[in-house]
Amino acid sequence: MSPPPPAQPPLHVAIIMDGNGRWAKARGLPRLEGHRRGVETVRTVVDAARELGIRYLTLYAFSAENWKRPGEEVSGLMGLLDFFLKRELNNLIKEKVRLHTIGRTEALPPNVQRELERVKEATKHFTEWNLVLALNYGAQTEAADAARAYAVAVQAGRENSDEATWEKFSRYFYTADLPDPDLLIRTSGEMRLSNFLMLQLAYAEMVFTPTLWPDFGRADLVAAVGEFGRRERRFGATTEQIKTGPR
Ligand code: FPP
Repeated sequence: MSPPPPAQPPLHVAIIMDGNGRWAKARGLPRLEGHRRGVETVRTVVDAARELGIRYLTLYAFSAENWKRPGEEVSGLMGLLDFFLKRELNNLIKEKVRLHTIGRTEALPPNVQRELERVKEATKHFTEWNLVLALNYGAQTEAADAARAYAVAVQAGRENSDEATWEKFSRYFYTADLPDPDLLIRTSGEMRLSNFLMLQLAYAEMVFTPTLWPDFGRADLVAAVGEFGRRERRFGATTEQIKTGPR
């Protein structure tokens, strides 16, 4: 039995869903079968996150580098995304979950863009629960896009570059309206960030689990959140300051 999750759950959990391919290979199945099972895990984890009081859940569903995969796998993933959005529209409305996206979604196939817009529009008035899909996302591309948008704002006189701070500059990131993640989970035993939310994760706690994404379940999320609850988050301060408050 894993210990109970902390009384104060993380506000925002971000997950690098990894290991679909290895899950399939171990069973002699095509890689896409692993992704298909991965979609079922997404449903389980969205439910579990709400139950645990996690208000923001960000999933790394397709990276800016994933286009390098075989064409068949890329189109299979796009098909699964389309299927997921069609299937989940009513569930997300019923559960009052708002869908957000981060990444260059304008490069996704038009049918996927249409479904994304449909679900985002239908859920945009919900505030409590938030599902964020990172699609064609890369942290370095995000920084470059933000720099470009910031430069335009400086030229137009809406920003003064002499007064640039992280708070002001980060308003140009895809995540401008989202809190920074408190907890990052990566499945499948890999221990790297893979160009995911690199600045927003500055103070996130990280939990790496050997479990492959298709096998990840409610108990694994509870365990990760429990581990989060045992960490001391100092945000650059000392243990004593955390205990007694800033002086
Ligand atoms: C990593 O496993 C997973 C991905 C690149 C895609 C994740 C996509 C899904 C879970 C399904 C689609 C998502 C939604 C929200 C509908 P991998 O293929 O890199 O696994 P491997 O490292 O074992 O090969």
